Amino acid sequence: MEPDRPLSYRALRTEDGSPTLVHPLFGEAYSSCHGAWMQANELYLKLTQTHQHPAPRVLEIGFGLGVNFRAALENCLQRGVFLEFLSYEFLPVSREVLASVEVPLSTQARRVWEELLTNWPTSFEAPLVLQGAWGRLGVCFEDVLGAKFPARWASAVYLDPFSPEVNPEPWQLPVLQQLFTAMQPGGYLATYSVAGQIRRSLQAVGFCVDKVPGVGKRAWTKARRP
Ligand SMILES: C[S@@+](CC[C@H](N)C(=O)[O-])C[C@H]1O[C@@H](n2cnc3c(N)ncnc32)[C@H](O)[C@@H]1O
Repeated sequence: MEPDRPLSYRALRTEDGSPTLVHPLFGEAYSSCHGAWMQANELYLKLTQTHQHPAPRVLEIGFGLGVNFRAALENCLQRGVFLEFLSYEFLPVSREVLASVEVPLSTQARRVWEELLTNWPTSFEAPLVLQGAWGRLGVCFEDVLGAKFPARWASAVYLDPFSPEVNPEPWQLPVLQQLFTAMQPGGYLATYSVAGQIRRSLQAVGFCVDKVPGVGKRAWTKARRP
């Protein structure tokens, strides 16, 4: 896979002041226009209970700009718990693009993020693995459609592709089935989409699905593996 230097990303300041980018091909922003940092913390970190889990294992669909990873990292460092974060990304951005999207981080978290930037590949043939006393991050540069997730592994799933309208593949039933299998019983999945078809599909593969009030947006989806 080649890095994406020829593509040009449009910068967007979201409502909480944190930045995001608009993807040149998908035509959508990587994070909510109501707040990139807000969404990472309120939707993904908190709705999945990752913020209070003693040993969180996060499985993410769409590493994107690493905003959700940084929110989980910051929280786990503050709590002194070991974070395991496994993310999938089939169209990785270049190091320069990744570095251009800054979010508020403590010195400790910034150190980990800078280590990630230093080790971010220029060709994406092998997964990126980063580990330290803070935890372990794996980023697999592959399409989730063919991915083999570890079984009963995740305490939380962050389902964060672009919208089902422009990026339907990762929302399909076989992927959701794999995500269910990858999750520990009692684990939570969160996503910004409340599309009826997505909620029905999550239910069909075994999740207990709730539509919950969102921030900036009327609703979000929270699902639990019983
Ligand atoms: C909304 S962005 C994710 C934002 C990210 N979670 C963050 O915190 O910055 C969606 C990401 O999903 C990735 N993606 C979409 N379809 C995918 C697929 N089939 N396999 C792997 N990654 C995919 C896109 O390339 C994009 O980077």
